[in-house]
Amino acid sequence: MDKLVIQGGKVLSGTVRASGSKNAALPILFASILSSKKLIFSRVPRLRDISTTLDLLRGLGARAEQEGNLVEIEIPKLNSTEAPYDLVRTMRASILVLGPLLAREGRAKVSLPGGCAIGTRPVDLHLEGLKKMGAEFELKEGYIWGSCSGGLRGAEIEFRFPSVGATENILMAATLARGRTVIKNAACEPEIINLAEALKKMGAKISGEGSDEILIDGVVSLGGADISIMFDRIEAGTLLLAGPITGGSTRVEGVDMGCLGAFVRELRASGMHITEGKDFLEARLGDNTRAISFKTDPYPGYPTDLQAQLMAYLAQVPGTSSVEETIFENRFMHVPELNRMGATINTRGARAEISGKKNCYSGAVVMATDLRASASLVLAGLAAAGETQVRRIYHLDRGYEEIEKKLQALNGTVYRVKE
Ligand code: UD1
Repeated sequence: MDKLVIQGGKVLSGTVRASGSKNAALPILFASILSSKKLIFSRVPRLRDISTTLDLLRGLGARAEQEGNLVEIEIPKLNSTEAPYDLVRTMRASILVLGPLLAREGRAKVSLPGGCAIGTRPVDLHLEGLKKMGAEFELKEGYIWGSCSGGLRGAEIEFRFPSVGATENILMAATLARGRTVIKNAACEPEIINLAEALKKMGAKISGEGSDEILIDGVVSLGGADISIMFDRIEAGTLLLAGPITGGSTRVEGVDMGCLGAFVRELRASGMHITEGKDFLEARLGDNTRAISFKTDPYPGYPTDLQAQLMAYLAQVPGTSSVEETIFENRFMHVPELNRMGATINTRGARAEISGKKNCYSGAVVMATDLRASASLVLAGLAAAGETQVRRIYHLDRGYEEIEKKLQALNGTVYRVKE
């Protein structure tokens, strides 16, 4: 198992380029199940979750290759409709095969998901939506067994919560369903727009993506296409903090400021200087830093996936900051580790209070618990006096492409060591 060793206390500055988005790439790669033709995807990050996805698709009968950031997938015929436990347990997003398999083959057997340990994370909204479209489910032996003998039909589906994954699953399934599907209270995340654009390139009829109501008119089949994955707004946000948390600055290229609005607003409120350009964002520590209060929310609100990282930063900003996590329960697992490094953070239910203090961090051996928690520990390690070792970085490798190289490009002393 690898660990990341960070010699902290150096000022990081410089320019890095954002990778393609993991959370956009996963559903878009799974959308290849909907077509028998060749699909070519560019700007796909090289990550463990992507190789898991390609393995899963190969298990279904796909020819799937990744070379650098280019992926080619072709599934002329599906040999299997099963997403096995061993793959699904390492990546919860595997549930996204359910809609496409039901749409193309009329059946699917998908292990109940594992993934990050951030709460219970049920899949009831996925199942309820697909049921409205004519699917039937049985839960046995740890698997979801789905079938729809007469094929999927369009339906009106209103979510009680705008789940990203459920919106993606229904959106994909509806492209091949008979008639019109309307998704109400749909998730509005930029990754949903990227998925809808990809499906439209394949021949799907979709409108309203990016709003809370998406309309899909089913077509008989989908074709091949060249599809580009959007930038990773979570990676970009994490890298943007890497300079300022050490007293320096970071410029991240290849980003679209529009997708990072809520994040940038909070950074500015905390006194950080942000410069926006056509294709870049630059963050520099200001002279007057301020404690802030923020809460996570569905897009366009503040992203839960950038909660831990901002918290790591705020622990060094004098004053009392507070955070409310409204998306996931149990998403403060980074707090005890940040406190071990010198932060003063108290949690109570879904709220955390941060008593910020300049230069609070000192290096320590810490344990990564989930993907974004790992990123917050790396940020704290950069700011800390002395050496930090972040263990269990397989979490980090699920979602950050060559993080140590990007931090090295910013002048960080960060390297990977085999344990
Ligand atoms: C996606 C992202 C993840 C991000 C999250 C919220 C991917 C691969 N992952 O996860 O990084 O943190 O969006 O922005 O894109 N819920 C239910 N029933 C369901 C589905 C969800 O109750 O059927 C609840 C969840 O338990 C959670 C909340 O809804 O509390 C948000 O989940 P959801 O938006 O579905 O997140 P994911 O798609 O799993």
